[in-house]
Amino acid sequence: MIIPVILAGGSGSRLWPLSRHHYPKQLLKLFGDKTMLQQTLLRLQGLEDMAAPIVVCNEAHRFMVAEQLLEIDMHDAVILLEPVARNTAPALALAAIQAQQADPTAVLLVLSADHMIREVDVFLQAVRKAVSGAKQGALVTFGVQPSHAETGYGYIKTATTTLSSDSALLAVEKFVEKPNLATAEAYLQAGCYYWNSGMFVFRGDVFLDELKAQSPEVVQYAESAHRLAVKDLDFIRVDKKTFAQAPNISIDYALMEKSNNVSCVPLDAGWSDVGDWRSFSELSEKDAEGNSFIGDSIDISSTNTLVFSRDKLVATLGVNNLMIINTPDAVLIADKSRAQDVKSVISHIEQQQ
Ligand code: GDD
Ligand code: MG
Repeated sequence: MIIPVILAGGSGSRLWPLSRHHYPKQLLKLFGDKTMLQQTLLRLQGLEDMAAPIVVCNEAHRFMVAEQLLEIDMHDAVILLEPVARNTAPALALAAIQAQQADPTAVLLVLSADHMIREVDVFLQAVRKAVSGAKQGALVTFGVQPSHAETGYGYIKTATTTLSSDSALLAVEKFVEKPNLATAEAYLQAGCYYWNSGMFVFRGDVFLDELKAQSPEVVQYAESAHRLAVKDLDFIRVDKKTFAQAPNISIDYALMEKSNNVSCVPLDAGWSDVGDWRSFSELSEKDAEGNSFIGDSIDISSTNTLVFSRDKLVATLGVNNLMIINTPDAVLIADKSRAQDVKSVISHIEQQQ
């Protein structure tokens, strides 16, 4: 049995001002007429032996999540609510504990609710390969061929690299979460490094045992919070006081960097993390000068610029490498090279309040 586990509790702060705490990017229709969360689930159609998914999200978003699942006829999903965000390690521990009730050895297919994948068939083939590795007891990652020295991703070092679709699982020598720029550049040069896609496949029991060994407090607090969980309508709400004590740590730091049991399936499916406006712009249609205009805008001789505006005409004249994001109550104008720093705008706003 494969249980999809959808991580949908991030705040998407680098896509401010479109993505907000109360309306984060995974719940937005960024591309097409389905939200990122809906696309994540719809992409799995055709996968064999799939059970109902577990969606883990912040309790503030519960009604939006439930509604979006119903819109795509997903009536049997389990929605686990976090009363406070403690990052992905505690969120995944909760999901794995929940999954134990259905089947202790079920394979968990962990997906972020905010990725784009162009070639779904290629992706599903990679998932099938990962599932067979996971059944043998591996923690399986998906490795994406890096195109630049991105510091917002984890890096996976394998002994060999391959993009062939029939390749076997690769053993992982090292997993490094979000290296600094110099290190990322060295990895790109070295050539045996993949980007970590942020999707994982493992057996629930194997994952919990490994996490217990590497980050015992995460499992301990998740278990207590889940034991004290209450059913609230169709939601499962874990205990706030206990869950708040869980370490605030991502699965990449809590487990993947530490474990010796990590494997990698190469993924060449047009994967993309819509993590910031730069990657959004890369996914958008461009004119000959590298500009993307989404919504109402006119331009004279700008280059490499992104304009996003749904409710107002934006005119640009001779600008270069800018991101201009207009929303009803806030406008962002930033250099594309500062895409990763957009979250610091939110910190500034919060300090002023
Ligand atoms: N339920 C829940 N609770 N979900 C969360 C939480 C949380 O506290 N925090 C984040 N998420 C969700 C996000 O919504 C997203 O779908 C996913 O978990 C990953 O979190 P991000 O915050 O987007 O992680 P990242 O992009 O910085 O890094 C991860 O993904 C990269 C690829 O996109 C890492 O796994 C990197 O190694 C990887 O390269
Ligand atoms: Mg991300």
